[in-house]
Amino acid sequence: MHTPTSPGALVRELSRLFVRSQRAQSACVDGASNVQCHVLTELLRVDGLTQQALVERLSLDKAWISRAVDALVSDGVVAKRPHEEDKRSVKLSLTALGRIRAEKLENTLNTHAAQVFEHIAVEQHGQIQEALKVLISALTHAAQATLNISTCDVNTETTPTAQENTLTFEDASMRDVPAIEVILAKAKLPIVGVRRHIAHFRLGKHDGKIVALGGLELYGEQALLRSIVVDPEQRNKAYGKQLVNDLCQIAQQTGVHDLYLKTVSAKRFFDGLGFEELAYDQVPASLKQSSQFRGSCPASATVMHRAMSALI
Ligand SMILES: CC(C)(COP(=O)(O)OP(=O)(O)OC[C@H]1O[C@@H](n2cnc3c(N)ncnc32)[C@H](O)[C@@H]1OP(=O)(O)O)[C@@H](O)C(=O)NCCC(=O)NCCS
Repeated sequence: MHTPTSPGALVRELSRLFVRSQRAQSACVDGASNVQCHVLTELLRVDGLTQQALVERLSLDKAWISRAVDALVSDGVVAKRPHEEDKRSVKLSLTALGRIRAEKLENTLNTHAAQVFEHIAVEQHGQIQEALKVLISALTHAAQATLNISTCDVNTETTPTAQENTLTFEDASMRDVPAIEVILAKAKLPIVGVRRHIAHFRLGKHDGKIVALGGLELYGEQALLRSIVVDPEQRNKAYGKQLVNDLCQIAQQTGVHDLYLKTVSAKRFFDGLGFEELAYDQVPASLKQSSQFRGSCPASATVMHRAMSALI
């Protein structure tokens, strides 16, 4: 077999071989087509996506998505429900059967991906994981540049370019929950719901140390930006701004159209990041179910909103 040597050709070959082998796995799961499998895994990640959001997230043809959704609906795997704000659109959710199928598919694909490492010497695993993180970060930046979605960066002229003030971001995990709760408690921010939404929390690190963290609670195309905190000794270095930008980008990639938050003392900070104050009665019902709107955050807090779709 001819193995390419240039970096670009290596990335292409890796992606080609991996996608081909994962497709073979998904073909074995309950006879679903590849597009149907993509739809199932996306709906497992975010409930309540519209058909248009699926088209954008998957970069697939509208007609293919439409056919796949119709087939999944007629199989009783996906259900449609009216969109509260847009009468011409519907939201899609997995049914109980759909969730079982999507979780089975997700497990199959995760197991298959993990098995690749069985063919690599154990002592090389750490090195490869680090290289993959670098590659993912590069691909994310490349995708953002192509889609011109880096508009999440407000006041980019004040975003630090010097290496010493640039944070690296990573997903938080269940393991991080106790430390996150301590940091939030010290900052007098609510800890309710951290465990439940940990999959969408991010840690901003400098020299291997957590200096900033924050998270998202996803409610379909709406999301709550929460728990934004920077180590008190590290404030005013634009770490807070980098953290919010990182979470905005994640929200955009996840198909979020509207981002909301509640803040007691940092209204001016969020003003500078494109958020605007919003009357409580304009907050969508889905968000009002969140613990922050049900009382874990003071009722006197300012509610703020930022439209994401308008920025793309
Ligand atoms: C709010 C917070 C996250 C800001 O973090 P930070 O790293 O110090 O902020 P940055 O350095 O990125 O500041 C960005 C801008 O916001 C301004 N700013 C920062 N904190 C501010 C605050 N509390 N009030 C008003 N403006 C603020 C900065 O002066 C800076 O302005 P500039 O761009 O004109 O220079 C941090 O102060 C914090 O952790 N506070 C306690 C927790 C909290 O209140 N979180 C928000 C509720 S979810």
